[in-house]
Amino acid sequence: MICSKCQTKNPETKKFCTECGAKLSLFCPSCQSEVKPTEKFCGECGHPLSLVDKPLPKKQPFDAKLAQIQRYLPQGLADKILSQRNHIEGERKRVTVMFTDMAGYTSMSEKLDPEEAFILMEQVYEVLIKTVNEYEGTINKMTGDGIMALFGAPIALEDAPQRAIRTSLVIHQEMVKLSEKLKQEKGLSPIRMRIGLHTGSVVVGILGNDLRVEFTAVGDTVNLASRMEGLAEPGTTYVTEDTFKLTEGLFRFEAMGEKQVKGKEIPVKVYRVIAPSTQRTRFDVSAERGLTPFVGRERGLELLLDGFERVKEGSGQAFSIMGEAGVGKSRLLYEFRKAVANEDVTFLEGKCLSFGRGIAYNPIIDILKSNFDIKEGDSDSHIRDKVIKGIKLLEVDEASTLPYLLELLSVKDSGIDKIFMSQEARKDRIIESLKQIVLKGSKICPLIMAIEDLHWIDNSSEDALKYFLEIIPGARVLLIFTYRPEFVHTWGGRSYYNQINLNRLSNCVFQTHPATDSTVIRPPIPW
Ligand SMILES: Nc1ncnc2c1ncn2[C@@H]1O[C@H](COP(=O)(O)OP(=O)(O)OP(=O)(O)O)[C@@H](O)[C@H]1O
Ligand SMILES: [Mg+2]
Repeated sequence: MICSKCQTKNPETKKFCTECGAKLSLFCPSCQSEVKPTEKFCGECGHPLSLVDKPLPKKQPFDAKLAQIQRYLPQGLADKILSQRNHIEGERKRVTVMFTDMAGYTSMSEKLDPEEAFILMEQVYEVLIKTVNEYEGTINKMTGDGIMALFGAPIALEDAPQRAIRTSLVIHQEMVKLSEKLKQEKGLSPIRMRIGLHTGSVVVGILGNDLRVEFTAVGDTVNLASRMEGLAEPGTTYVTEDTFKLTEGLFRFEAMGEKQVKGKEIPVKVYRVIAPSTQRTRFDVSAERGLTPFVGRERGLELLLDGFERVKEGSGQAFSIMGEAGVGKSRLLYEFRKAVANEDVTFLEGKCLSFGRGIAYNPIIDILKSNFDIKEGDSDSHIRDKVIKGIKLLEVDEASTLPYLLELLSVKDSGIDKIFMSQEARKDRIIESLKQIVLKGSKICPLIMAIEDLHWIDNSSEDALKYFLEIIPGARVLLIFTYRPEFVHTWGGRSYYNQINLNRLSNCVFQTHPATDSTVIRPPIPW
């Protein structure tokens, strides 16, 4: 008999679970009363028991489910949420609300016995909860076959709508994978989620110990998100115009026209999310649309160009551009890139993403992709060919670098599994391979590596950057980093390290090492 508490299979003769000690019992599928294996009907509600050959897991109360959610929370997220407790109560916050619903659950559950249906839902919830939490959203409600989640409260997120859309895209992909598995194991039809999103304001109420937020005023915000879910076809995400406007350019959308929704007098504009676009940041989007003329910051640009001259002569340099959000860090880097566009130089760029901290080597992977000209949608074998061709050109030893580079690029059968070594040794090999690429590449022509937004960097990338900083003196390498003031590093004190501090107000202070230089410029165009 299978234990209803820990799911361990026990011999039929046992009365208590040999794994957790729980009493081994059978339950009526209808009223959950305890029944005996010999009974044909439930003595409490009369439900036929002929199908009861296994104990049915009891329906989990919400608290139990939340306890389960907390198991999946990335480290530190629960503390982060609870630390907001005294700050947000009563505050009006702009949030993105997500509703998910599983299409065809009722008809699918009819084909399964209750235990199987329960296990299936557990797997679906696991995907939903994990994905929402990965993007720092929080689960607010679990509906019968879906969830309501929030992005932007209790944790304030500057890019909540973008995270909500990315979450929904990952959920759809994960459901395809889960469906594949269920099809093979049980011949089930595919699971498809309908997802609706809307961004609007809510007044935040009490934040419970269970990490759930109550709202005192939800207005239309929650309702509209739920209506979007109702309109979405299975396997798609529908968003309102508010969410669309906040993420336009970062994703491709299909305009679905105006729809009449319950509770709204005038029809609302609805958009279907198609896919992420190649632009990944707000700056990329504005650059695509056309930028306003570049003003001020001439001194910063000059410093970068001087640094590049030194690099061309064989003296590696590193620059940090530091400043608050919107002050013009990316713009300065963009202008520098334009200024060296006609030079014989390799310019590689990597970006740390606000939701990328959990992805090891995130910006380094960007750098590798642009170095080996790997495009979105390239197949594994295509990527392998490009990397092999690239390392041949660089004259880098294939055996000691290829598996590590392929592993970083998530290529299946990278070959790394055949090499037995500790995690530490593996990390050293990865960094060594990157070093080879950087140093050999810089011999062919000067190499500029720009890594943006270090305030969101993952630990592995940070270690790699520290290593790059060690190896660049004497190499034709220019490292440029951008970050907001909250990022703290210990890189100062090197003769080839330079810091450019951008000021939002009327002046901009540039510090170079070892001398300090300062200049006053016009304010940048506000973000
Ligand atoms: N010197 C400038 N001249 C003209 N426009 C500027 C200048 N600096 C910044 N801008 C404009 O201001 C906007 C914000 O700048 P940018 O994206 O470079 O900020 P940031 O410091 O990189 O911010 P974040 O930390 O959010 O990445 C952009 O549209 C940019 O074109
Ligand atoms: Mg920027």
